[in-house]
Amino acid sequence: MSPDRDARSGRRGSTRRQFLLGGAVAGVGAAAAVGIDYAIRNPAAAAGAPSTPLNGTSVVPFHGVHQAGVDTDAQAHGLFIALDLLPDVDRDGLRRMMSILTDDAARLTQGDPALADSEPELATSPARLTVTFGFGAGFVARAQHSAPTWLKPLPAFAVDRLQPEFGDGDLLLQIASDDPLTVAHAGRMLLKDARSFAAVRWTQRGFRRAHGTVKPGTTMRNLFGQVDGTSNPSPGTAEFDAVVWNDDGWLAGGTSAVVRRIRMDLDKWDRLDRGGRDQSVGRFQSTGAPLTGVDEFDEPDFDVTTAVGFPVIPEFSHLRRARSENPEEKIFRRAYNYDDAPVGGGVSNAGLIFVSFQADVDRQFVPIQRRLDELDLLNEWTTPIGSAVFAIPPGCAPGGFIGETLLT
Ligand code: HEM
Repeated sequence: MSPDRDARSGRRGSTRRQFLLGGAVAGVGAAAAVGIDYAIRNPAAAAGAPSTPLNGTSVVPFHGVHQAGVDTDAQAHGLFIALDLLPDVDRDGLRRMMSILTDDAARLTQGDPALADSEPELATSPARLTVTFGFGAGFVARAQHSAPTWLKPLPAFAVDRLQPEFGDGDLLLQIASDDPLTVAHAGRMLLKDARSFAAVRWTQRGFRRAHGTVKPGTTMRNLFGQVDGTSNPSPGTAEFDAVVWNDDGWLAGGTSAVVRRIRMDLDKWDRLDRGGRDQSVGRFQSTGAPLTGVDEFDEPDFDVTTAVGFPVIPEFSHLRRARSENPEEKIFRRAYNYDDAPVGGGVSNAGLIFVSFQADVDRQFVPIQRRLDELDLLNEWTTPIGSAVFAIPPGCAPGGFIGETLLT
């Protein structure tokens, strides 16, 4: 039997085991060899660890009113890929592409290989894999449809130092899972099927805590060490629905995504003491509690002043500046950290893949970013270097495809 055929019939693992066993039998005897074989199949048992249920087979439903990956509890690993459509792809081409990519995503997220999957073994542990599609302005124009007025590059902000290699794009793939191998495989399968329609424009990889490291529901920490995401609307509430879901035309049941790559200067942040760090956000780095409170979810009190009359939560703090009196100006943040190879003699090249979902970018995101642009102490250590806006179309039923409200 050729090695290829062996691999296809799924027997490669056992062949490898037989090889290892052969050596073991020769050296230490059959009883120990059986132990080794058991250990290979059950690494936890070998380490003396109690066996725990595997997270690898956890599945997030793909079909539904909304696409998954927005209100899904954020997975440990996120891959963001923006593609540009090839010049000759027309409306029919878009429909073909989205049918194929939807089919891939529907299978892979449920733990099934994509059609013609060259590594079907990698599809069996989805670990809460979600694939979320977003359309840039170029996509909607090619579909010969009108776009929401906010589907365009954000206005220029003074803090921006945008690099074109992290900007814009016609099609967004947000691929997220608790397992990085699953993310890589899903990304590759989708790109292989997209390549006759579109070319990769940029890729960004991000992470949060590994699954199982902290209790489910714990707010994430960013690489400054801050608790990041405390005052987000909670999925499943009326507030979340109002903030996130759009109800207009082909986008009804969908939303918008702003993806900003924001560099965080960790080396400069190192020089700031704990008090300065807490003041820059208006929250304690240790607990995430507002400077006027004790617990993470205590409501900040902006009226409390110090003995000499200054607000305890400073006017220039990120919390003060990001919060609006206007209930319309709210967003849902679902960021990932990045930590790439340092360049230019520094020891870090890190930041946030800031991702926010909101029903309307101009009404909700832009006023917040304008205020932060005018004043926010955190700007001392953060620099936006990439920016892109996408419409996230609604979900679809089995047999349908993502984008059908735009393309049929
Ligand atoms: C690297 C850049 C950034 C860092 C490190 C950062 C960090 C934080 C932290 C630690 C908090 C407090 C805890 C929480 O509620 O999540 C917070 C809150 C918030 N941030 Fe940011 N942030 C960044 C960029 C942005 C941007 C670009 C926006 C939007 C334009 C934004 C909007 C908000 C909002 C709306 C809140 C909640 C404010 C409230 O309590 O009402 N942040 N951020």
